[in-house]
This record gives sequence, C-alpha cells and structure tokens, in this order.
Amino acid sequence: MVFLVVLALASFFAAAIADDGIDQLGSYSTNIVSVTTKDPVASATEVYESLGRNIVDRFWDSENDLWTNQCNTSSTPVLWPVAVVGKAVSNDMDNTTIHKAMNAFSQYRSTQAAGYSATTARDGDIYTDDDAQVVWALYKASQTTSNTSFFEVGNDLLDYIRSQEYNGTGILWSVKGNYLASISNVEAALAAVKSYEIKPNNTYLQFAIHCLTWTFDNLMDSQNHFLYDGVDTNGNVNRGQLSYTVGAAISGFSFLSKFDNSKDWKSKALELAVRAIGAGNLNSIFYSDTYVHDDVKYSHLLFAGFADLVTETSPRGNYEVQAYNAIKAELVREARHLYDEYYGSIAASGGCSSAGQMNDLLHYGSLLEIFYQASRVSGSF
Ligand SMILES: *[C@@H]1O[C@H](CO)[C@@H](O)[C@H](O)[C@H]1NC(C)=O
Ligand SMILES: *[C@@H]1O[C@H](CO)[C@@H](O)[C@H](O)[C@H]1NC(C)=O
Ligand SMILES: *[C@@H]1O[C@H](CO)[C@@H](O)[C@H](O)[C@H]1NC(C)=O
Ligand SMILES: *[C@@H]1O[C@H](CO)[C@@H](O)[C@H](O)[C@H]1NC(C)=O
Ligand SMILES: *[C@@H]1O[C@H](CO)[C@@H](O)[C@H](O)[C@H]1NC(C)=O
Repeated sequence: MVFLVVLALASFFAAAIADDGIDQLGSYSTNIVSVTTKDPVASATEVYESLGRNIVDRFWDSENDLWTNQCNTSSTPVLWPVAVVGKAVSNDMDNTTIHKAMNAFSQYRSTQAAGYSATTARDGDIYTDDDAQVVWALYKASQTTSNTSFFEVGNDLLDYIRSQEYNGTGILWSVKGNYLASISNVEAALAAVKSYEIKPNNTYLQFAIHCLTWTFDNLMDSQNHFLYDGVDTNGNVNRGQLSYTVGAAISGFSFLSKFDNSKDWKSKALELAVRAIGAGNLNSIFYSDTYVHDDVKYSHLLFAGFADLVTETSPRGNYEVQAYNAIKAELVREARHLYDEYYGSIAASGGCSSAGQMNDLLHYGSLLEIFYQASRVSGSF
C-alpha cells in the first residue's frame, strides 16, 4: 500500500515535469490593447490614509490588544485577516499603529511549533500561506519603522515555512497535512525574495527559485499558464484557479529578476500579467464584465503583482512599454471601481459599512491594501 502511493507520487511529478513547466513561461507576446481609465476624483494616498485611520478606529480592540473581526464589536479574527491588515497598515501608517499590528501577531504564536497558528488557540493548526503573509507584514514593518527586530522575527518564520517542504518538492499548505498548495509555494517564494531585498542571503534566493520552479513545473495549466490550486501527496490535482496565485507569482518573479540572472524572470512575470488582463481586453478567466471578479481577499494579491511588476522592473522595447502601460492603467481602473463601489458607503457609516462585507476585517484590510497598491503607480484614481 505504502509502496503504491510512493509510485503514484513519483510518476505524477515525473510526468508533470516532462510535459510542461517553468521554461515554457516567458516567451509569449501578443497584441496589447490599451486600457483607459476614468478622470480621477481622489488621491490614492489620501484614500489609503483615511481608510487606514478608520481601520484603527473601528477594528482595533484596545481591551484585547488585538484587531476585532467585525467593526464595532469584539469578535476574535483568525490569522489571515490579521496578516493582511498587518501588511496593509505597515505600508505607510504611523509607527504606533504598525507596532500594535505587529504585536497582535504574538497572540497567534503557536506554543507547539515555530509558526503562527490559524487561531488564538495557539495550537498546531498552522497554514503556511497565512504565515507567509505574516512574514511580508513583518518585513514591511521593518522597512517602514527601521526596526530590524521585525526583520529577524520574519526570517525565523520564513525558516519555519522552509521546514515544511515535502520531501524535496513543494511546501505543504497545512502543517502535518498532505496538500501542496500553489499559493503556499508562491507566497513562500515572495517572502524569501522580500527578505533578500532587505538583506541578501543566498539560502533565501535559492529557496525562492526552488518554490517558483516547483510550482510552475507541477501546477501550471499548459493552456493559459495560470496555476492550479494544488496537488496532494498522492498526486491528485485540484484544478481550481484563482487570481491570487498568479499575483503572488508575478510579484515573486519581479523581485527575483532584480537579484538573479539565471533565467529571464521578468518575462515570466510579464507573461502572467499580460495574460491575466487578457492583453488589455479584460476578459481572462479572472474577469466578469471587464472587472476582476475574485473577492478582494484574493484579488489584492493580483493587484500587488501588477504594482510590483511595473515599479520593481522596467520595460524594454515597444511591446513591453505598451504592456506596462496597460497593466498600470488596469490597476488604477480596478482601484477606482472599488472606490466607487465602497468608499461612499464606508464614509457614510462612520468608517465601516455593512455594504459589500466591508464591516469585516479581511475585506477591509484587502481593500486598504489595494488602495495602497494603486498609490504606488498613480497619484490619483
Ligand atoms: C518611525 O520610526 C522611524 C525610525 O525610528 C522614524 O524614522 C520615522 O520618522 C518614524 N515615523 C513616524 C511617523 O513617527
Ligand atoms: C523594535 O520593536 C520591538 C518589538 O515591538 C521592540 O521591543 C523594540 O523596543 C523596538 N526597537 C526600537 C529601537 O524601537
Ligand atoms: C522522496 O523523494 C525521493 C527522491 O525524489 C523519492 O525517490 C521517494 O519516493 C520520495 N518519497 C516519498 C515518501 O514521497
Ligand atoms: C542565511 O539564512 C540561513 C537560514 O536562516 C542562515 O542559516 C544563515 O546563517 C544566513 N546567512 C547569513 C550570512 O546570515
Ligand atoms: C460603528 O460605530 C460608529 C460610532 O459609534 C457609528 O457611527 C457607525 O455607524 C457604526 N457602524 C456600524 C456598521 O455599526
């Protein structure tokens, strides 16, 4: 029985590598359609700052020294929203807020392992994708506040995530589980290149290359080059596709292209971004009616990918210039769409709104992150 399982796994990985993989990514080009934006009505930075202050006013529970999951209540969130908000406020909020957000993580620190647990039970229920987002928040906090202790805590958590590699393949999604999720792998890779950017360490660079290579060699859809959700250790693939895996991969390749020349990583990021926006036609599998239909809790990572590509790397040649312009415009266009949809009702209800789930920490934090990403590429939207 055990023997059969091992055989199935070995043949799955061998077959996947032979068929298609990371080397097929990056040589794509197509006709780019330009993306138009509306006349701007708001400063992206002001919207970020205003919502950032609101999130502290409405979701910070000073009695428990923790975020609350719903505005105006005291319900305890799981780690995912705490990580997203931790990153979102660390981008550009004041030091006091950032310290509070970093301190909140300590309530999730597992008492059984060197990771952060899904809940404040601080038990062995740990997910590597949530933990990777905690690492990003710690690195960003370290950069914004110049406090290197956050960087060191982030590296320790990254080392724990690295320890979850399954027999030389990918990173397990849940600790002690049997599922290798593409999101865990692209997010771990992104954590590693973010660490490298602050302080180069070749161990992390090689880890990032390994995670991205494993993911695209084993979980890339050969038709559209997006990523399947994951594969279990018996080789059963879950073929669901969400925009966040693509977004985190775009970010990972973009940073990697600054530090390593062993492959043309930028072209891989660019192909994914061009395909994600349907080359400007706004009609890839992630779209409905010209807007990304994934929930903001996923799409914020796609938009971060767009922002990382166009700010961390530079276009070369006419095709790339057109593609970067379309990607940038599409990020601004999506941020404006969300602003039109939510900002008014949030402002009208004293900082948190029951409209469109924006009374919930995960959605609110994701929205905050999207407005920050828009501010990186444009003054207004
Ligand atoms: C935050 O702390 C850093 C480092 O001490 C300092 O340079 C920066 O001005 C502070 N920012 C604010 C808003 O206090
Ligand atoms: C850096 O942050 C840590 C954790 O919040 C804190 O204990 C330490 O005092 C801070 N260091 C400085 C120099 O502000
Ligand atoms: C672990 O990896 C080795 C080398 O690829 C392979 O031979 C072995 O079957 C794997 N074992 C398990 C349990 O997956
Ligand atoms: C690089 O990171 C690894 C893993 O954490 C660590 O063991 C090593 O000491 C680091 N190297 C340097 C030069 O800091
Ligand atoms: C939250 O509380 C504030 C201040 O009391 C109030 O203005 C606002 O309407 C409340 N919002 C919701 C959605 O409960």
